[in-house]
Amino acid sequence: MITIVTHPLVQHKLTLMRERSTDNALFRETLREISFLLAYEVTKTLELGTREIETPLERGSFPWLEGRRICFVSILRAGNGLLEGMLDLVPDARVGHIGLYRDHKTLQPVRYYLKLPDAIGEREVIVVDPMLATGNSSAAALTMLKSEGARRLRFMCLLAAPEGVAKIEREHPDVPIYTAAVDRCLNDKGYILPGLGDAGDRIYGTA
Ligand code: URA
Repeated sequence: MITIVTHPLVQHKLTLMRERSTDNALFRETLREISFLLAYEVTKTLELGTREIETPLERGSFPWLEGRRICFVSILRAGNGLLEGMLDLVPDARVGHIGLYRDHKTLQPVRYYLKLPDAIGEREVIVVDPMLATGNSSAAALTMLKSEGARRLRFMCLLAAPEGVAKIEREHPDVPIYTAAVDRCLNDKGYILPGLGDAGDRIYGTA
């Protein structure tokens, strides 16, 4: 299942990020702002608990989101651009990181880093990566998380290509996808068209 977040603020900010002339600082800041708005959607169906508190007038039981039950997993390195804002909203969330590179011969993603919090199977896991392009690394990350015991997963990105969406839907039909847009296609280097370029380079100024 895919949710496209069509909110005008998201769409406006995405256009700003697509623009070639947007510099690294503005790109990073806008990504952070969009991450709040995407987080609002991706967390919408999280289960609320309750907490007994005292208001200045009475004692009572009120809605409470147990942040520690949530785990954000960033796919390095561009995932970190979305992670920052998510952590502002849910500061108690646990964080995992997955590092993957593409083997030039096989073109398959190879893991070079994996660090997850304990009891991943008990947590609501939200995987973040701004660009869902071929879907190879995202699908591999989801497979790794499942083999580590994760059971409840969501995938959040900024921009997707139809090819990447199809791959996740085929290989991980249980994982809902949240994105601001699905673009036209991939080019022969695996970049999303019209896209916004290399998200990692634009976040960190490494182009
Ligand atoms: N990764 C990016 O950063 N950009 C793309 O267009 C595709 C993958």
